[in-house]
Amino acid sequence: MIEIRDIEKKYEMGGETVHALDKVTLSIQDGEFVAIIGPSGSGKSTLMNIIGCLDVADSGTYILNGKPIEKYSERQLARIRNKNIGFIFQGFNLLSKLSALENVELPMIYQGVPAHERHKRAKEALEHVGLAGRIKHKPTELSGGQQQRCAIARALAAHPSLILADEPTGNLDKKTGKEILNLFLELHEQGNTIVLITHDPKVADWAERIVYIEDGKITSEGRGTRRYGTDELTIDEKHTYDAETQAEEVMPDGADAIL
Ligand SMILES: Nc1ncnc2c1ncn2[C@@H]1O[C@H](COP(=O)(O)OP(=O)(O)O)[C@@H](O)[C@H]1O
Ligand SMILES: [Mg+2]
Repeated sequence: MIEIRDIEKKYEMGGETVHALDKVTLSIQDGEFVAIIGPSGSGKSTLMNIIGCLDVADSGTYILNGKPIEKYSERQLARIRNKNIGFIFQGFNLLSKLSALENVELPMIYQGVPAHERHKRAKEALEHVGLAGRIKHKPTELSGGQQQRCAIARALAAHPSLILADEPTGNLDKKTGKEILNLFLELHEQGNTIVLITHDPKVADWAERIVYIEDGKITSEGRGTRRYGTDELTIDEKHTYDAETQAEEVMPDGADAIL
């Protein structure tokens, strides 16, 4: 779905050139869960903006869904952004005067989705992220984790083919961050393509594939161990596991036979 080749992005700052992206080549297939990890200033957000068609590279090629990006008109690009890409940011970017439901509906208003369909999809998306009981709440009446869930619902409501998340757990405590990462895992298992941008190795470890970026260059690739490839258990699995082992422990000898 995403094929980036030799992409460069430079910024001129006070007579100096910053190579934000320096010949980046990266392919992402449909259904992958990829983390892009690198220290602050390594070019992650610049890359996300280019992948998300919010910005264009100075040189190199970007083929999105089989077509070079420059072949799309401005209108088509806006449509791709609205319809096919769900953006999730560190700061949630919710409008404080609107309810959770209205926040989720807002992008669909711009897309011209009829009111009835909008309500339906927004409600479904909020249910999907576990916020069915909070649809009338304003962002200030929601916890940080709930606000991020609402932002995720907003991204999901348009049924995007790609979810792009820039430091989505950056403003959350550890436990809430894990809940959000579990939600990403669930979305990935349902077939969504997810690109997760982070500076935190613990967060990147939840992805199936990890791409390392430094000084605007991709330096190496790896695989996450949190969910794939090792015996490490996810929170939900651990929960079940603990419950089962505890049940075994309290079960008196011969209880099996009686049950
Ligand atoms: N609009 C801009 N103008 C000038 N320099 C920028 C701009 N955006 C990013 N940069 C520079 O490009 C580099 C990469 O930035 P960024 O992609 O935001 O990194 P990251 O998201 O990994 O922290 C940094 O050195 C940053 O200072
Ligand atoms: Mg950034």
